[in-house]
Amino acid sequence: MDTQNIDLQWLLITTLALLFKPAPIMLLMHLCFLMTQVEATIKVPAIIVFGDSTVDAGNNNHVPTLARSNFEPYGRDFEGGKPTGRFCNGRLATDFFSEALGIKPFIPAYLDPGYSIEDFATGVTFASAGTGYDNLTSQITNVIPLWKQIEYFKDYKTKLSSYLGKTKAEETIQEALFVTSLGTNDFVVDYYVSPSRPSQFTIEEYQNFLAGIAEEFIREMYTLGARRVAVAGLPPIGCLPVIRSVNFNAEMGGCREDLNNLARDFGGKVSGVVSKLSRELKGTKMVFLDLVDKPLQIIRNPHLYGLENVGRACCGTGTFEFAYACHEPDPFTCTNASTYAFWDSVHPTEVLYHIVADHLVKTALAQIL
Ligand SMILES: *[C@@H]1O[C@H](CO)[C@@H](O)[C@H](O)[C@H]1NC(C)=O
Ligand SMILES: *[C@@H]1O[C@H](CO)[C@@H](O)[C@H](O)[C@H]1NC(C)=O
Repeated sequence: MDTQNIDLQWLLITTLALLFKPAPIMLLMHLCFLMTQVEATIKVPAIIVFGDSTVDAGNNNHVPTLARSNFEPYGRDFEGGKPTGRFCNGRLATDFFSEALGIKPFIPAYLDPGYSIEDFATGVTFASAGTGYDNLTSQITNVIPLWKQIEYFKDYKTKLSSYLGKTKAEETIQEALFVTSLGTNDFVVDYYVSPSRPSQFTIEEYQNFLAGIAEEFIREMYTLGARRVAVAGLPPIGCLPVIRSVNFNAEMGGCREDLNNLARDFGGKVSGVVSKLSRELKGTKMVFLDLVDKPLQIIRNPHLYGLENVGRACCGTGTFEFAYACHEPDPFTCTNASTYAFWDSVHPTEVLYHIVADHLVKTALAQIL
């Protein structure tokens, strides 16, 4: 209530100030911005995140796995230049969601002992780099499987109840924005690499198998109180620098369109699950977050977005380094990542995440806020 009043007063003051110095478009932009902030402070008390390296903020630092990034140069552009375990030079898309909704500048990892329930009450990520929908994927990378992320969420709910009181905790969960982002590893570290799944499923069957797990997962989150849910699809994996570096087809070093199409196809299946469940589960607000179209637009027309380097990553030679292969000192690592789309050979830079996050906040997320 207090936040709302402060925002409204601020809105009034700014409006009056601007009226005396008229600049109609600026005024309008200002008003829209402030109104979004007002709404956000009322509606979304927390962001709760599940998934893989696209949304892990350091849970893997506490898991015995090679899927880590809590060392330099990771985090070079993060607050304090700190390598948190985010697979990025700075913040992730979910951190920008949190900031855009007026909550806080970044979302901490649940297993990070530097934070407590007081911090997690307004946002937390259970994500683990290297994980997937498929249990086998997290076994290959030795990270936290999706079912275990749900166990952590149950544990979180108990702590939230003691911290906020039962009613307020339930209200928080109900109004919170749930975000999930995973699936890439099911294809790139599991299906296309390990023989087990291809011997059981065609690629089409495997996609259906994963979409079935996504459905069960959303149902379980609903049972646990989630009502506002955003489910991300896959990024354009055919344009990851690591994939481009080994693309020896006609257009050498180009994107693999077959893999981008796979990301689209699987996105279609997940999107179908989201539509079905949003009709079936009462009182939900759900959206699918498409991660293919906007990133591809940026990769195809980088200059429109102030970017220059989209084929190679900033870290190392930009062709294959990620996780422990992306480390300091490396004379090839770029000195300024602000014009790069990719930070390491499989993960976006902060600037790419920022552009995509802003786009999603205004489009898909706006539908459920
Ligand atoms: C994944 O593993 C968990 C825990 O063993 C199990 O409950 C779940 O059914 C498994 N999921 C699938 C799709 O096999
Ligand atoms: C990187 O370059 C951008 C644009 O030229 C500049 O604004 C920014 O300060 C630079 N960052 C660092 C860390 O030098």
